[in-house]
This record gives sequence, C-alpha cells and structure tokens, in this order.
Amino acid sequence: MKIVVVGTGYVGLVTGACLAEVGTEVICIDVNKEKIANLQKGILPIYEPGLDVIVERNYKKGRLRFSTNIEEAIKGAQIAFIAVGTPPGEDGSADLKYVLQVADQVGTYMDGYLIVVTKSTVPVGTASKVKKTIKAALEKRNAALEFDVASNPEFLKEGAAVDDFLKPDRIVIGVENEKAKSLLRQLYEPFVLNGHPVLFMDIPSAEMTKYAANAMLATKISFMNEIANLCERVGANVNEVRNGIGSDPRIGNRFIYPGIGYGGSCFPKDVKALIRTAREYEYNMRILQSVEDVNDDQKKVMFEKIKKHYNGDIAGKTFCIWGLSFKPQTDDMREAPSLVLIDALHEAGAKVQAYDPVAMNEAEHLLHGKASLKKDETAAAENADAIILVTEWPEFRLPDWDSIIKKMKGRVMFDGRNIYNNEEMKRLGFIYHGIGKETKD
Ligand code: UDX
Repeated sequence: MKIVVVGTGYVGLVTGACLAEVGTEVICIDVNKEKIANLQKGILPIYEPGLDVIVERNYKKGRLRFSTNIEEAIKGAQIAFIAVGTPPGEDGSADLKYVLQVADQVGTYMDGYLIVVTKSTVPVGTASKVKKTIKAALEKRNAALEFDVASNPEFLKEGAAVDDFLKPDRIVIGVENEKAKSLLRQLYEPFVLNGHPVLFMDIPSAEMTKYAANAMLATKISFMNEIANLCERVGANVNEVRNGIGSDPRIGNRFIYPGIGYGGSCFPKDVKALIRTAREYEYNMRILQSVEDVNDDQKKVMFEKIKKHYNGDIAGKTFCIWGLSFKPQTDDMREAPSLVLIDALHEAGAKVQAYDPVAMNEAEHLLHGKASLKKDETAAAENADAIILVTEWPEFRLPDWDSIIKKMKGRVMFDGRNIYNNEEMKRLGFIYHGIGKETKD
C-alpha cells in the first residue's frame, strides 16, 4: 500500500511516522520547503517524546519519505490523508482553505482509485466538501476516476501522541461504502492487535465524534474549575472532593483536575468550532458556551489571587514562573494560561522571570520581552517575591528547595496545578495558595 500524508504538522507527522513504523510505505508532503529539508535531515518541527526515534528509523529504512512534490506522491497512491491546518477564523469557525486546496490537488493529480481521508479536525460536512472539490477537479481534466472519501479523526494527546497512535483506545472511521471500509481496516489492522476497536460509522458521525469527545473533556475541566472556585469560598478542599467523586466509575477519576484553565491546540479551538457549527444549524450550545466562558475566567484566577495577596500592590514585584507550555511534555504554548498570566503581570508593572524545560524557543517568540527567560528553575527564582507554578512538569515536583529558597527575596507559592501540599510548603516557610483549597497561613 502506498500512503500519502499531506501536512507535516503535529497530526500529519505523527500519523505518517507511526504508519511507517508498522511497515507501511508512507510519503509525507508539505508546501514548506524548509520543513521538508529539515525532516530529511532528521530535524523535527515539534517536540514530541519518541517521535524523533521513529522518524529516523523509518526514514533510514526508506519506508518514510518527505517531499514537497504532491503530484508525484499522489500518483499510484491508494490512500491520501489530509492533515493540514484548519486555523480558527475570526468567528471561531475552522478555516477549510488548506483542506480544500489539497482536495483540489488530489483530484488534479490522482491516476487511479484512491481513498481521501480527512485527518485534520474538521467540522461536520467537510468530507462532503472534499468530495465535491475532488469531483470538480476530476471533471476539469475529464478524468472518470473512482475515489472515496472518509473521515478518520485523531485523538492524540500532545506529549503522548506516539503511544496514543500506536496503542489507541479506539479508532473512529467514517466511510460511505464497503470498499473504503475494507482498505482502511487493513491499514489499521496492526494497531488494534490489543483488541481495541476500530469503530466504523457514517461520515457525519465520525466528524461529530471528535468534537463531542473534546467538548466533553473540556466540560469536565471547566466543571471542576467551578467546583474548585466554590470550594475556596466554602472552605472545602477540591482535592478531597475530586477523590470523592472520581471513585464513582460513572464519573471517573480522569480529566477532573482543576487548574488555571485548559489550553492547547484542540480544546479551545474545538469548543469554539462546535458552538459555531450549532449556531449555523440554529441551535444554541448553552453548556459549551459556559465551558468556554469559565475557561477564559479561570486563566485569570491566579492573577486575582496574586493581586489579593499583595493588596493590589504588584508593581515592582518580581515573579518567578515555572512552566510555560500549555501542559507538560510539549513545547506548545498555543492558548497557554501562562500567556494570559504573564500579560496581566507585565501590565501591572511586575517583573517576570520564567523557565520551562522545553518551551523556551516558543516563549522567546511569543513573550516579546514581557518575561526574562532563565536557564533553570533556580535561576528563575533569583530575587523573586513569589513562585508561580503554571505547568506541572515532573521536575518541578521535587526541586532543590534549599538553593531556591536562598535565592528568593520573598517566600510565597502560587500553585496553579495543585502539585504541592500546604503542609509541605509551610514547612519550607512558604505562604501557599493553591486552586480550590483554603489557604491556611
Ligand atoms: C486533547 C485531547 O486529550 C486529545 O484526545 C485530542 O486529540 C486533542 O486535545 P491535548 O490538547 O494534547 O489533547 O492535551 P490534554 O492532555 O487533553 O490537556 C488539555 C488541557 O486540559 C491542558 O491545558 C491541561 O492542562 C488541561 N487539563 C487536563 C486540566 O486542566 N485538567 C485535567 O484534569 C486534564
């Protein structure tokens, strides 16, 4: 089988590399010449644990190739994945410009039966737009070639994407006929040897599944953030409450950790897009609108706590920030709570010193000097009045407290992810503020 993956972003690269890893011949396409040249040298555009190893291995074996020539790649291919970006437009809807451009190219260059699979997260109805675009391109060149479209949403978590792809909980595929179903089943056979299901369904349901999954997870988080905010007010501890409700299997103990808001490339974008889709069908997604509003407010919760602690007197204070990426194990800072917090601190006249184990390059581009970036967590704490834990990287769990404390000016900890406990912090001499926990100082 010859597989083409168009788009070497996060989804495309993981898809291409993991398909090659089980022995499939894959060619990854991108319009960005520099990106392709780098990939050919083994330089990856993103940080994702384990990805570099499988890219290198499969590239060396010749099973994984990188090219900018989509025409050559499409000829003779059996399956083409569209994994290009769908950036949110001003109104929150996903912009399908790139997806449909690829569909047009596929229709222009294909020379035999082909399944065109949308892998990017796209609104319900996109596969049918892709189909129309390919048809139009084929008609333009008077070619009567057979093709099918399919929808195969990804459920990859950044930081665990390779594992998620190689050992998925489930694979969701929307198809229109048996022919496409059987070819795609064959492609995914090596990934479901562990007995997890390949769920075939109609195309709109597959497209909807992706949004429903992310919207449900975002809802759990915003719900817990509200419970945490209320816990603080009534004097309860959200950690206890979380354990208390999470042990009910109907609720489950995952994705109920409160914090300073969800970020990343998926939740914010997909929640917005689903609200927007609903509006197009004249339906108002009330719960999801609140999920989004709560999240926007939650990103400001830590700043409010800081303001309260210092009675509004923040100007001239120095804050040390640990963690900048939207979550650990990634350098991704899209929609990261750190950006909102740093903006607010900067605006209030505070000095910010920050450190992240991998997102320093990203930070350099995004922060425009609003924070000075330090080489490690100890350097970031130098002369600081307080530490703000923003991203729960494992290395922040047991830092070298002795040297950190010696360097600090004040001794306050704002823990945005509840990774420390009050007793421990008190023993170290910190005044501690968590999320959804009463502050006992
Ligand atoms: C998510 C989905 O998990 C994945 O299935 C989908 O394909 C893409 O979106 P990702 O964005 O990589 O993946 O990160 P995830 O680990 O899900 O975390 C998302 C955000 O939620 C992070 O900002 C994280 O800090 C936050 N979060 C997560 C919480 O605040 N509390 C939790 O309990 C879990």
